[in-house]
Amino acid sequence: MLTIVLVLTILFQFGLVCWLLFKKTTADNITQPKATNTPQTVGSFYNQTTDNFLAVYGEIIQAFRTNNVEDYLNYTIQSMQLKDGMKAIDAGCGVCGPACHFATVVNDLKIDAITVSEVQFEKSRAKIDERNLQNQVHVRIGDYHKLNEIFKKESADRVYFLESFGHSNDKRKVIKAAYDVLKPGGKIYIKDLFLRESENEWEQQRINAIAEQINAAYEYQIADLHEVVSALRQKGFLIDFIRPPQVERDKFEHLTISNDFQNLFNIGKIESWDDYIFPIDFYEILAAKPEHITSEDMHLYFMNRKEK
Ligand SMILES: C[S@@+](CC[C@H](N)C(=O)[O-])C[C@H]1O[C@@H](n2cnc3c(N)ncnc32)[C@H](O)[C@@H]1O
Repeated sequence: MLTIVLVLTILFQFGLVCWLLFKKTTADNITQPKATNTPQTVGSFYNQTTDNFLAVYGEIIQAFRTNNVEDYLNYTIQSMQLKDGMKAIDAGCGVCGPACHFATVVNDLKIDAITVSEVQFEKSRAKIDERNLQNQVHVRIGDYHKLNEIFKKESADRVYFLESFGHSNDKRKVIKAAYDVLKPGGKIYIKDLFLRESENEWEQQRINAIAEQINAAYEYQIADLHEVVSALRQKGFLIDFIRPPQVERDKFEHLTISNDFQNLFNIGKIESWDDYIFPIDFYEILAAKPEHITSEDMHLYFMNRKEK
């Protein structure tokens, strides 16, 4: 009897090990190699593809938008709380379509725009001149991981990333650099795509694999929302909100532009809809650099309590 129990136990354990090994191999097969983009590869990507983007997207290179894209830009102004007379940094400005719109709508707004692509820099300059916005929008070529080397510390009211943050290969560094250049009370705004999550393990593997294909096609590293929130809070930012962009369903553009782009230029084209799972969610995050160092305030609070 004891022998039978022993044999059954061994067989069960052997079966379990085989099953675990099989599961791991299947998962490994699905997972694609990790993205290897750098600011340099992102720059070359946009040098080669900006004309294609302009042909399909127009001067606003964002997938999540409303049918009337100006409505979406006006929504963005409200969302990031852009006010008259502010100084903003547009980190990953494209061809300055958004920056030129913001500068036209918000009085006396000053924007320092930065792109890592020479082609986009030239096109931005032409647009700024054409719209006579030289006093309000200034563009340069540069890497937003180094905002704190390029701009004066504590000089900006807003640092914003419109579908540009996900190109970063070191998101903590970007967040630190943004923190340094923000005035106390200034805010970082990030609107981007984030990896979707599923409670189903197979679905999650598919999501990860499809996201990796997008990363490879667009020189992207789709962000993990948890990691970004954690990096913001560790740096000392206080989160104002995290939410999907608040767009009415009948005004939403439904991402057909990005599909058209993929099909037309064969970049990141979806080859098969079998087992396709939409791999991302769009979110916007607004977070403030505190006016005061919160930990010091709390320290005083405890000191006061002790004195009583
Ligand atoms: C999808 S486009 C969005 C452009 C623009 N925000 C818009 O809404 O039209 C991404 C932008 O991020 C910029 N970008 C990506 N990585 C960058 C980096 N390391 N430094 C500066 N800009 C970067 C690209 O040059 C490109 O302009």
